[in-house]
Amino acid sequence: MILDLVTKIVPFLILTYIGGNCQDFGYDGDEGPVHWGEKYSQCLGKHQSPIDIETSNVLMKNFPPLKFEHFQHEVHEGLLENNGHTVILKIIRGKRPRIQGGPLKGIYEFSQLHFHWGPNDTLGSENKINHQSFPLEMHVVMHNIAYGPHKAAKIYGGLTVLSFLTSISPNDNKNYDKLEEGLLEVQFVSSNKSIRNFGSLDNLTTVDRKHYFTYEGSLTTPPCSEVVTWIEFVNTVPLSKEQIKAFRSISTTGGRLTHNFRPVQPINDRFVYYNSGISHSKTTITVLYVILVFLLINT
Ligand SMILES: *[C@@H]1O[C@H](CO)[C@@H](O)[C@H](O)[C@H]1NC(C)=O
Ligand SMILES: *[C@@H]1O[C@H](CO)[C@@H](O)[C@H](O)[C@H]1NC(C)=O
Ligand SMILES: *[C@@H]1O[C@H](CO)[C@@H](O)[C@H](O)[C@H]1NC(C)=O
Ligand SMILES: [Zn+2]
Repeated sequence: MILDLVTKIVPFLILTYIGGNCQDFGYDGDEGPVHWGEKYSQCLGKHQSPIDIETSNVLMKNFPPLKFEHFQHEVHEGLLENNGHTVILKIIRGKRPRIQGGPLKGIYEFSQLHFHWGPNDTLGSENKINHQSFPLEMHVVMHNIAYGPHKAAKIYGGLTVLSFLTSISPNDNKNYDKLEEGLLEVQFVSSNKSIRNFGSLDNLTTVDRKHYFTYEGSLTTPPCSEVVTWIEFVNTVPLSKEQIKAFRSISTTGGRLTHNFRPVQPINDRFVYYNSGISHSKTTITVLYVILVFLLINT
């Protein structure tokens, strides 16, 4: 009996302890977002993320088309990991997706993707649109190939985050089956699971990737480096309530990771652009058009 307890609890304690090394920030109390700036000064910067995108303030712009490369290819092997702050997917085998065009200067390559969620379906996304939160937000983090993955995280223009909001659908999204199965295998901090034939990034993201908001911001976790070109897609990924709920069941140190979104930050002197996909001048009509497109795409 005691031996049984030891074999069950000791590995858990060890894993929790190992995870403890990178647990110097959290989402509550003394470790919560308002305290991040005490250890990580960049979190007090003026160009932080996430933000509340107000469609009446966005500037219309006609960017060159985004070019998605290898997004349609199968990820032959992915590694899903619970790092105590989120669930991260890395590609172990398979072509690394790349992106260029749009607001980007250069070619960016896939580093990892991860998720942010909330305690219930009314909260969870980091970026908001017109004060509205969404239940889950996926961040596909890509680095500028001119710098490489580590250096890119320290240089302005080094990273882009392709950000996808979710909406609640009555049916399970089958494209998320592998990921959902994987969630059950990474319940503890620092646990990981290799997943074969994961599917494609195309299948995890949205169908319409022409309409998006874009702005210059930061990582939404410490060290909050202001190196990110954000691309926030308008079209949402449909997931069922049960699929979203599964994210809340994973553990962090000291309990369930029920929420891991940073509150919105001031926009200050920044501009948020909306890629309309059509040439236009900025008029009230085009602003209304943004709102209309947003409503249409998501209903
Ligand atoms: C969702 O969670 C927030 C934060 O805990 C809480 O204030 C709110 O009442 C909850 N909403 C519902 C519908 O449960
Ligand atoms: C995955 O977890 C195992 C322990 O279960 C560990 O030995 C291995 O280093 C981890 N792999 C990665 C890539 O972190
Ligand atoms: C993407 O999803 C479709 C429909 O669910 C499926 O037929 C296709 O095999 C998937 N692609 C990959 C690469 O997994
Ligand atoms: Zn993120």
